[in-house]
Amino acid sequence: MELFIDSADPKEIQTAWDWGFIDGVTTNPSLAAKVGRPYRQIVLQIFEIVDGPVSLEVIATEYDQMLEQARALAALHPVVVVKIPCTRDGLKAVKTLKKEGIKTNVTLVFSGGQALAVGKLGSDYVSPFVGRLDDIATHAGDDLVSNIRQTYDRYGFGTKILAASIRDLQHLEKMALIGADVATVPFNVLETITNHPLTDKGLQRFLQDWQAAGLELPIE
Ligand code: E4P
Repeated sequence: MELFIDSADPKEIQTAWDWGFIDGVTTNPSLAAKVGRPYRQIVLQIFEIVDGPVSLEVIATEYDQMLEQARALAALHPVVVVKIPCTRDGLKAVKTLKKEGIKTNVTLVFSGGQALAVGKLGSDYVSPFVGRLDDIATHAGDDLVSNIRQTYDRYGFGTKILAASIRDLQHLEKMALIGADVATVPFNVLETITNHPLTDKGLQRFLQDWQAAGLELPIE
């Protein structure tokens, strides 16, 4: 399973990237707005940090403008995956972009029907929004990802399932069990992977015992 960081903040991305287990980045317009700096400056900085896929989202809502923006974003750097909203114009744009060899990530996916269309179009990624669905009905997010997994496996679709809108460690662990190909995880949730109070407590005890016994490692 691949893990992406769901952030547009270069500082967070650098910190998480240095942990060594992050494979890529997803951004969206809201995340970019939070950083408070020009978007171009931010993305160029992100390209210097990561060498995995970086999802950048179009802002246009109509086919022709989506294509223009997608081509310009893709030309920025080879790691760019263009995020396209799951609308009629968006799906049409995915078909064209695929023919041009531009990588796509279809975002704002909330139903199995939407995911089926995305799989048939051969988008590189489909992004079901787990947390936002769970806000409406418990386990709705898990159920959707599980349905998409079964459908894609049954028909052999190559589109990677990128579980988005992950709110906590339970969401992430559920996505791993279901078999999402990727989960994109916000920095605060990634921090909970890298810091467990029982790990800290256990380590403190090991070191205390070691020191109390006056032991030394068998190395020069
Ligand atoms: C990532 O691709 C999505 O845009 C993001 O995970 C949405 O998360 P949110 O529902 O917490 O805003």
